[in-house]
Amino acid sequence: MHVVRIAGALALSLAFIPGAGAQGLVVPATEKKIDALLAQMTLEEKVGQLNQYSSAFDVTGPAPSAGAQKVMYDQVRQGLVGSVLNVTGAEATRKMQQLAVEGSRLKIPMIFGLDVIHGYRTMFPTPLGEAASWDPAAMEQSARIAATEAAAAGLHWTFAPMVDVSWDARWGRIMEGAGEDPYLGARAATARVRGFQGGDLAALDTLAACAKHFAAYGFSEAGRDYNTVDLSEHRLRNVVLPPFRAAVDAGVATVMNSFNEIGGVPATGSTHLQRDILKGEWGFAGFVVSDWGSIGEMVAHGYAENLEHASRIAITAGSDMDMEARGYVGHLAALVKAGKVDVKLVDDAVRRILRVKFALGLFDDPYRYSDAAREKQAIGSPAHVAAARDVARKSIVLLKNEGGLLPLDKAAKTIAVIGPLAADKDAALGNWRAQAVTGSAVSLLEGIQAAVPSTTRVVHAEGVKLVTGPRNFMARSVINTTDRSGIPAAVEAARAADVVVLAVGEDAFQSGEGRSQVDIGFKGLQEELIQAVLEANKRVVTVLMTGRPLVLGGTAESLPAIVEAWHGGSQAGHAIADVLFGEYNPSGKLPVAFPRHVGQMPMTYAHKNTGRPGPEPGVTWSSYTDVANDPLYPFGYGLSYTTFTYSEPRVSAPEIARDGTLQVTATITNAGKRAGVEVAQLYVRDLVGSVTRPVKELKGFQKVELQPGQSREVTFTLKAADLAFYTASGKWEAEPGAFKVFVGGNSRDVKEAAFSLK
Ligand code: BGC
Repeated sequence: MHVVRIAGALALSLAFIPGAGAQGLVVPATEKKIDALLAQMTLEEKVGQLNQYSSAFDVTGPAPSAGAQKVMYDQVRQGLVGSVLNVTGAEATRKMQQLAVEGSRLKIPMIFGLDVIHGYRTMFPTPLGEAASWDPAAMEQSARIAATEAAAAGLHWTFAPMVDVSWDARWGRIMEGAGEDPYLGARAATARVRGFQGGDLAALDTLAACAKHFAAYGFSEAGRDYNTVDLSEHRLRNVVLPPFRAAVDAGVATVMNSFNEIGGVPATGSTHLQRDILKGEWGFAGFVVSDWGSIGEMVAHGYAENLEHASRIAITAGSDMDMEARGYVGHLAALVKAGKVDVKLVDDAVRRILRVKFALGLFDDPYRYSDAAREKQAIGSPAHVAAARDVARKSIVLLKNEGGLLPLDKAAKTIAVIGPLAADKDAALGNWRAQAVTGSAVSLLEGIQAAVPSTTRVVHAEGVKLVTGPRNFMARSVINTTDRSGIPAAVEAARAADVVVLAVGEDAFQSGEGRSQVDIGFKGLQEELIQAVLEANKRVVTVLMTGRPLVLGGTAESLPAIVEAWHGGSQAGHAIADVLFGEYNPSGKLPVAFPRHVGQMPMTYAHKNTGRPGPEPGVTWSSYTDVANDPLYPFGYGLSYTTFTYSEPRVSAPEIARDGTLQVTATITNAGKRAGVEVAQLYVRDLVGSVTRPVKELKGFQKVELQPGQSREVTFTLKAADLAFYTASGKWEAEPGAFKVFVGGNSRDVKEAAFSLK
């Protein structure tokens, strides 16, 4: 049995702490309205607000006859459902809302949520790919557009951004976040929350955002989805939490907890995470939604005896809304009546949910987002499509370009476009694609065809199929390992061409939830195809379309040019063609390393030094005997069609006072012949700490555009607060001492200076 911490938890949850985390959700006049509503609500109605069901998208279809859908509609009419997810479209949401507003006693509107992760209909690159833009404005813009489209379809709330830091590309969900680094993750979190929520939740083109998964889901052991997490408070605070904190500071309205346990406690049942840190220390005034069924899953975790017990643990720990476990609706009222759950916990959860509903303007007009005319006009508008192309090309990373094979000449006589993803119109839409139309992406083949003059022959050969059978969220991809029949035609096409563009990688549903893999190399027969094509023609530009980093192995050495295009969204084909032909000079940088070998996972550039950093002759040191320690392409890495050189960085003073600032300046030169954009990166190393510190930590970046031959000074400003971390004494503060500071174009190739903090 568990000791349920009601008293302590309650004290924290009800103590409203003003400050950055208050998100403007706490408005005195609204709090009074909530008081009045709470006074009228029966216990069952209160619990109803905490209950969220998934719709089967069928509310506009034939009336549901029986089963779960009928139960849901009946409960909606009784005011026993606070939220529905997966109902979309102006008409469907209006009808669903009508059930609650016209059918229920208190007419409290429901809040409709959906996973609007990287677009609603117009798809942007999957979030990891988009993070490769290192462009917060671009990330904000794509979230803004996603919100505009989704809000016009009657939605109020997105389960995004996913802000889980992950060091493990085996974990399929790495595609949903911003990669391996907490600083870049925090910048992406801020941008995305701002983009989804705009300046005003009540505006008709904004959604309430949801920072997820709280917390440490990205550290699932061995990269296996839903697996155990056990990490120190230091790693939690220094690595996992900063993007969540940034989201809360940016005013995120909701937070989703997580499937994993952490330190023996399922996140859904964690008072430490939800009450102590999120609602207590950070003053978060919005609500926490459970992950899908995660309240019930505490039984399987071996943390709760049954759903009733799990519900009691979850509400006590601060999980405000139950997504599809049906634990609250089934048990909470009885638990309160039996004196096992204090009704104040329920009241607090209701208050938090109502705050968000008020902020969205749903009490003024519950149908305000369900507007068929706006839906028609906003969704897939030309401006959205143009933005999708722009963000996609900003996200593309040039990994290798031997002998300047790229950019390609549009006037080449024959271009062979080969590979299982060359003509594919679906993979680029990625996983978590909301209401994207299946097969609606611009394929690479189409992009190339549209870019070249009619005198250029574009020949296509699929070579091999990547996946056989159904391709959708529920299907686990069945990889083709036997059908080689297309290889000869591909070889023929390669032989006859001036240059080959080879599109390989992952299908949309090979990464994402439930898609953890131990082998993150080229799947199926792709490797065989690559080798066969290379034998026929050495001039091969490989375009990787992936959700996550792949292990390219020895193949990377034999390929002269490699472009990581991710799952680039609706306009992927045009965006990639823009890069291949030099219409756009690539500027993307990896938000997560490409490992040399899967056995290196988990890995980060921001590792600790260890007691044996080596290499040292005659001593065994912390290394593998078969593969180097470092990745193939490190965090922050990405080439351009021009080259940038960096001067030694200079610091404005050798010492920085505790309340002072330090300028770090380096001169960057475009040493090549094309204009280009470089992402200049600032890293810091704290040499001695009360707990050991990483060998490098990203602390800033700037995108600099330089004409050929142009030089520019780039200055970063560091404050003592930027050097703060969770110390041995459990405080977030900077410790005096010696630091190194590094500036460079990626996390590996940097130049350094030194300073100290007084
Ligand atoms: C995922 C969440 C998602 C939810 C609702 C869960 O399986 O973990 O990220 O928001 O489903 O679709």
